[in-house]
Amino acid sequence: MVDTAHRNETPEADPGLVGAVEHDIREDAFPIKGWDHVRFYVGNARQAAHYYSTAFGMTLFAYRGPEQGHREHAEYALKSGGVTFVLAGGVTAESEASRHYARHGDGVIEVALEVPDVDKNYEHAVGQGAIAVEEPHDVTDEHGTIRRAVIGTYGETRNVLIDRSRYTGPFLPGFVAAEPMVKPPEKRFFQAIDHIVGNVELGRMREWVQYYERVMGFTNIVEFVEDAIATEYSALMSKVVANGNRKIKFPINEPAEGKKKSQIDEYLEFYGGPGVQHIALATNDILAAVDAMRERGVEFLEAPDAYYEDPEMRERIGEVRVPIEELQKRRVLVDRDEDGYMLQIFTKPQQDRPTVFYEIIERHGSLSFGKGNFKALFEALEKEQAKRGNL
Ligand code: FE2
Repeated sequence: MVDTAHRNETPEADPGLVGAVEHDIREDAFPIKGWDHVRFYVGNARQAAHYYSTAFGMTLFAYRGPEQGHREHAEYALKSGGVTFVLAGGVTAESEASRHYARHGDGVIEVALEVPDVDKNYEHAVGQGAIAVEEPHDVTDEHGTIRRAVIGTYGETRNVLIDRSRYTGPFLPGFVAAEPMVKPPEKRFFQAIDHIVGNVELGRMREWVQYYERVMGFTNIVEFVEDAIATEYSALMSKVVANGNRKIKFPINEPAEGKKKSQIDEYLEFYGGPGVQHIALATNDILAAVDAMRERGVEFLEAPDAYYEDPEMRERIGEVRVPIEELQKRRVLVDRDEDGYMLQIFTKPQQDRPTVFYEIIERHGSLSFGKGNFKALFEALEKEQAKRGNL
């Protein structure tokens, strides 16, 4: 709903823009410019960088490692439009990445946000009880200075705050420009991060939602009750927190009681605790993206034919930009809410452990997360879980 007090203060504001602001925007104690990057600790960063280049169409653009005097880790920075991933691998058994990898397998260590004033955000966050990991400090090289601070979140995951306004280098201090590993695709497969989801232990979801509300001034925008996301076997509870302009969205899941082991329980067991479950990547052509990724060996969860042939589902979703047969061919899911519709598909886990996976999403107005698809999706997921002997 539009906050009328807010609208009265800005009578000349573009009505389209005002209409787009659904919730009240809190007086920004924690302003965020946008996603900066996601940093992973992986078992073999060089090979992971090759995989994300070939299979995900990302492009290597910066590197740091022992050659730059960065003796613990080799780190590859890749991008696709506005999405930046940093893949860091340990060079020695004692490297932090090696320890993290031994415990969790490949996973996300940092979700970095670009902010205009690191000190202000950090002070607010810590004042509200944020887990302090690194106080604000400058990091400098010949290309300038970034300011950075780190606060903790679920498990070993961290939120990094970065101000890069005084920096002109290829990525971050210490990194040098790097040439693509393979020829970049003619058309990128995705161009933005839509949301990043965390899995936390049973009974801890509310606590982490409140953490983001308190520490970052986020608001709870969507809530799934348990029976809305339940299949015969597994169930989860999920809440979504977002910042004022909705650019940053963090859904948080916890397992719920089902007949058998929840997919969230499987994650927690194999990841060795809470962590990032999936990253949703926004595309403007999901059909082309899925075709290209499949061709390059990415495996997706497959919704059953019954999903596409259900008259109720067809009635509910109405007209979308492509014939439903095209979606069915690729197992792309559709969901609609009062604001529009969205197309989405989920990859299988992208490492040996059944943990981190990706979502590809094409939004047409809809701000939802695909609640209408959860049943079909969970059934597909449970099939995979059963194959692994974890159901
Ligand atoms: Fe998602």
